[in-house]
Amino acid sequence: VTVNLGDRSYSIKMGYGLTDDLGKLIIEEIPDITGCAIVTSPTIDRLYGKEVSEGLSELSPVNILVPDGEEAKNWETVGMITGKFIESGLDRKCLVIALGGGAVGDIAGFASSIYLRGVRVAQVPTTLLGMLDSSIGGKTAANHNMGKNLLGSFHQPSIVLDDPKFLLSLPKRDIGAGLVEAVKHGVIANVHLFNFIQDNEELLLNKDITSLVKVIGLNTRIKSAYVEKDERDLLGLRAALNYGHTLGHAVERLLSPKIRHGEAVAIGMNYASILATKLGLITIEDVKAQKMVLEGLGLSLNLPELSIQNIMKFMKRDKKVVNEKIRFILPKGIGVEPTIANIEDNLLIKTLKEIR
Ligand SMILES: NC(=O)c1ccc[n+]([C@@H]2O[C@H](COP(=O)([O-])OP(=O)(O)OC[C@H]3O[C@@H](n4cnc5c(N)ncnc54)[C@H](O)[C@@H]3O)[C@@H](O)[C@H]2O)c1
Ligand SMILES: [Zn+2]
Repeated sequence: VTVNLGDRSYSIKMGYGLTDDLGKLIIEEIPDITGCAIVTSPTIDRLYGKEVSEGLSELSPVNILVPDGEEAKNWETVGMITGKFIESGLDRKCLVIALGGGAVGDIAGFASSIYLRGVRVAQVPTTLLGMLDSSIGGKTAANHNMGKNLLGSFHQPSIVLDDPKFLLSLPKRDIGAGLVEAVKHGVIANVHLFNFIQDNEELLLNKDITSLVKVIGLNTRIKSAYVEKDERDLLGLRAALNYGHTLGHAVERLLSPKIRHGEAVAIGMNYASILATKLGLITIEDVKAQKMVLEGLGLSLNLPELSIQNIMKFMKRDKKVVNEKIRFILPKGIGVEPTIANIEDNLLIKTLKEIR
């Protein structure tokens, strides 16, 4: 798939074993490369570090390790990564390879976007969520104590390489959590994707590669189309991708690192869809269908025991807040473009209590 963004266009390539000869592939795609760094985390390094570095030996990569998962996404890590870039003498024609899940992709992308005012990054996702969502679109991020993803930049990758072989070591929990973003894409844009997930939950959770590849392929196209239409989230079109994320981010921030991003988003999708029924936007049948699919993936949709006041505080720090009003992405059906609306605090609080 090509993501068409003028001089920032790039391709997303997918194939089993695609990264086996990574060096050759990268030199073909980025012939003027002068050096490279692999940013990854200890778990991924232990599983794949050796083979990936060996595949890149002609480029003598510098290996940079950040903590696993959400703990990597902070300002200190950005300082550490960029410090290693400087020590290694990487110049403006270097390439940063973000090898990992969404967390590594976000933080390595952020560091690349500010090093020497921006160097190229290749996203090589190792989680399902990374392949079907976070590696595409150039949003980079770090968290702040006061909220999730409050720091960051837009920095499109130069290439995205999806190798489904990485998924074989991924815990089932992360497959389920990753599929939440696929269900989200189905609800906001494509009923066939939604139905495919509904009909193949067991196969997907058991890592049937053919089914996973089909889901990744469909999602890649949906996400790319949104990015092409509204690269910097200025027209309100890309905002649809934030369905489930207003409450999701607040829950994730409050429970990090105990909860996965996708698990928090699932709670947020269920909540936003219940709000939408109250405004007469979506039928209860559609909300139930979404609930069944998410629960079928092993997700719990109840709001964890958190103070509602805290949740409201974090939701008010969401990037979508304008004039202190919390703006929600509200579904209008399965596979139907959602709408955005400001919602009064009273209704938000009442509905939070209901999903406890
Ligand atoms: N930039 C975007 O557009 C975008 C979109 C969606 C989500 N995100 C971000 O992505 C993050 C979540 O990403 P995630 O769900 O990929 O989780 P993650 O990156 O936190 O990884 C989850 C865990 O899986 C481990 N892991 C990764 N690959 C593995 C593999 N192949 N085998 C075994 N273990 C492996 C990691 O070390 C980590 O402990 C969140 O921070 C979220 O905000 C960003
Ligand atoms: Zn997400």
